[in-house]
Amino acid sequence: MSKFEKHIFVCGNQRPPGHPRGCCDPEAKAALQKLFKEKLKARGLKGKVRANQSGCLDQCEHGPNLVVYPDGVWYGGVTAADVDEIIESHIVGGRPVERLRLADSCINTATCEHKPRKMAEQASENPLTPGQTPS
Ligand code: FES
Ligand SMILES: [Zn+2]
Repeated sequence: MSKFEKHIFVCGNQRPPGHPRGCCDPEAKAALQKLFKEKLKARGLKGKVRANQSGCLDQCEHGPNLVVYPDGVWYGGVTAADVDEIIESHIVGGRPVERLRLADSCINTATCEHKPRKMAEQASENPLTPGQTPS
């Protein structure tokens, strides 16, 4: 059997209601991942492209998130209504869906403007402001 050409990792993580970082799959139904799987199969892509349920991808504030490898293309705020477009445009056509892509400035950066809690944590870990000296 040939190897998979692409993997779509769909975050299926849950956090308690009201958690400041939110989570991608609060209902724990893996609905997005299951939809990708169904639609890939319907397109005859089973065995070539795999949609996997993943744990937290650490981009929670932008969720629901997924990442396509080996392309390294990240998507955020994905809904069921976006699945056909991602498959058609990106997976089949090789053109990522730009309107859903996470900006490079958002991925793995503590300074992303959507991560107020992380920034607050950083500030409290390093409370010195320029010009101050440790006591
Ligand atoms: S909960 Fe989905 S990226 Fe963290
Ligand atoms: Zn961001």
